[in-house]
Amino acid sequence: MIFLLILSLIASFPLKSDAFTDLMRRPIIRHSFTSKVVTTDKQIDQKVSIKPLSSNTVVNYDKKTFRRFAQVELYRTSELEKLFPNLCSLEKACRDISKLMRRIATDSLSGNHQLLGSEQSVNIQGETQKKLDVVANRILKIALCCSGEVSVVASEEEDIPCACSEVTDNGAFSGGEYAVVFDPLDGSSNIDSGLPTGTIFGIYRNPRYGPIDPLTTSKQRGSELLVSGYCLYSASTHLVITMRNGVHMFTLDDVNDEFYLTRSNIQVPSHGPVYSFNDVHESKWHEGVGNFYRDLKSGHLKTFSDPSSDDGAPIKKKKAPRTSRYFGALVADVHNILFHGGIYGYPGTTSSPKGKLRLLYEANPIALLMEQANGMATNGVQRILDLPVKDIHDRTPLFVGSRDEVSSLAQYLQQPQKSLE
Ligand code: AHG
Ligand code: MN
Ligand code: MN
Repeated sequence: MIFLLILSLIASFPLKSDAFTDLMRRPIIRHSFTSKVVTTDKQIDQKVSIKPLSSNTVVNYDKKTFRRFAQVELYRTSELEKLFPNLCSLEKACRDISKLMRRIATDSLSGNHQLLGSEQSVNIQGETQKKLDVVANRILKIALCCSGEVSVVASEEEDIPCACSEVTDNGAFSGGEYAVVFDPLDGSSNIDSGLPTGTIFGIYRNPRYGPIDPLTTSKQRGSELLVSGYCLYSASTHLVITMRNGVHMFTLDDVNDEFYLTRSNIQVPSHGPVYSFNDVHESKWHEGVGNFYRDLKSGHLKTFSDPSSDDGAPIKKKKAPRTSRYFGALVADVHNILFHGGIYGYPGTTSSPKGKLRLLYEANPIALLMEQANGMATNGVQRILDLPVKDIHDRTPLFVGSRDEVSSLAQYLQQPQKSLE
């Protein structure tokens, strides 16, 4: 009975026969939920780890913050555990300086620092100080001295190293285990034009016995550094650091005011195209540096150790691609080389045999970082980290970067110069 009812219903359905046949011939569509790609806003958010917190805040939940990273890494080396609050203060100081850098033009932070009256202030090295040189120096001194465990700070902008008990005017801050050296603002001539600048730092342990003398504590060789690194204030703010555990980079998320780990175990390429030299003084460089520089630029560095060269003549290597970059801020130039490979050089000249860069505040921290990234740093003759610090404001020629280019420079300097003709 029901069967007959269905048949009569079909018969009364107003389908033309050809349309019905057509319908029946269409392939059966099976929805496969596994192969279908559905991309919703929510899924994109999950994929890139951005989760809305409130209307204008986003959080990278799966990224490691600098503080978490430091906590874990320092825990591995029990000797360094006490450094945790100091590293947090350093990181906070970088965030504060970064904010100031963003406000230079709008908050009248450009220009030179004026002392009372109209005189411009000049540091111990005779360089005119920028307003931000002075402010950044103050931020670092206070942040580090108040973090506990730091008893001495030595800054490129100060005549002598300072005892934290004096900085804070409180004797309770005199017994900390560590000394911190820093260049508060590197590349400060870039400030007014909004170009990259940086902060360079290094941390030493105070000698274990005897009273803490700020001068002796600060005059340690670079090989004694426990931690070193820099903050780069550029299109992004990066904190690049080594705790002698490789080199790691953190990037400031401006919205959350937090540094997140963005690159770990950075290795500088063993060779690379970038060369960063200010060659305005080329005519006053050591002859070997000049020979190296010209061959470097032409892409034809020579090698002097090839055993097949039995007549002692240098062998020209295969042409290598080269490109010049110079930001005028050591931090920015070194950062670029860390990622692309090549060599940064600030040679001595006949009038300034030690060049311009400061051993304690600039060369040593950068040298440790580059060695930890599998690169090299030399003054042309000796490893930077082995140089004795005779005076806290000592300068040194600096060549730093990829192993191939830096060791080649050292080879050029070892040659009797006429062999290069
Ligand atoms: P600072 O601003 O701390 O005095 O350092 C400037 C240094 C260094 O960062 C940079 O690489 C170099 O000076 C640039 O010197 P030139 O202008 O002579 O190239
Ligand atoms: Mn500097
Ligand atoms: Mn400086």
